[in-house]
Amino acid sequence: MTTTSQQTDQTTDPTTELIDLHPPAADMQQLVRIGLNRCPRQLPAWFLYDEEGSRLFDRICQLPEYSLTRTEIALLEARAPEIAAAIGDGVIIEFGAGSAKKVGPLLDAIHPAAYVALDISAEHLRKATTALQQSHPGVPMLGICCDHSTLTALPEHPLLRDQRRIGFFPGSSLGNFEQHDAVRVLRHFKQLLRGGPLLLGLDQPKSKIRLEAAYNDATGISADFARNLLHRLNADLGANFDPQCFAYQARWQADQQRVEMALISSCNQVVRIAGDRWTFECDEPLITEYSLKYSPERAVALAQQAGWRWVRRWHDPDDDLSLHLLEAPD
Ligand code: AVI
Repeated sequence: MTTTSQQTDQTTDPTTELIDLHPPAADMQQLVRIGLNRCPRQLPAWFLYDEEGSRLFDRICQLPEYSLTRTEIALLEARAPEIAAAIGDGVIIEFGAGSAKKVGPLLDAIHPAAYVALDISAEHLRKATTALQQSHPGVPMLGICCDHSTLTALPEHPLLRDQRRIGFFPGSSLGNFEQHDAVRVLRHFKQLLRGGPLLLGLDQPKSKIRLEAAYNDATGISADFARNLLHRLNADLGANFDPQCFAYQARWQADQQRVEMALISSCNQVVRIAGDRWTFECDEPLITEYSLKYSPERAVALAQQAGWRWVRRWHDPDDDLSLHLLEAPD
């Protein structure tokens, strides 16, 4: 578990600074209580991304069934000069940077004043920014470990001072928020970016067969990723989940245009978490995340609802996903 106070650690690489603003264990405990009292039970999707969860997610991105990441990287590589011309100069701020494998073409095309990566996993962020710094030595970089959906303000830092802010939120991570929360997050980013634009990657609806295979792959990595949430609660909050007593399920819910991912209790069981006792009935679901898919029309409506001006989109040859350019209204 990382600390809450603002810490700067420059021991691993003198050029990659990391500011640690991870929510404290007490906040996580409170979020678990709120989530397990919901019906159906559901925990925040960012709980999935401890170091092991981030590593498993990287493996998901390489699965033949899960094409989202590959398609988006290819789109960025093909259209970066055009995207850069539309976006302009400034500091690139990536929300949920993960392994920071997508921003390379934008760094090459924009030559930003700096690159600031936000992610919930400190260790993963440290490795990602260190590797990226090696391939892009001319771009000053900063990592901020935080929950970007609730971070009240970006830290005062020389790399951010007096710079135009360019938001980058790829990977369809906004899809992991339910619709009302997605509007809140987009509004929140508008504040953090202080008038700067946002490049937003959103996945689009596809066939049920394709989506359910993408989120429940044949090798079981998606299931391991979901179950890791329980391992994490055991490690960080002293819970006593037996992850093997939960089956993994991913279902496309066409009416809501989303994939629902859940761990289903395979028996009646009682679990202890930080002094609380929780009863799980047999077949009771614990929602680990939703993945909402946005048609281009719905994406425009979402952006406008959050107070952004939708400018244009770029999409891959099969029109599977889009990068949307949003600007703050004058
Ligand atoms: C990070 N996020 C956009 C992924 C998605 O596609 O919703 C998370 C994921 N969960 C299981 N597979 C992928």
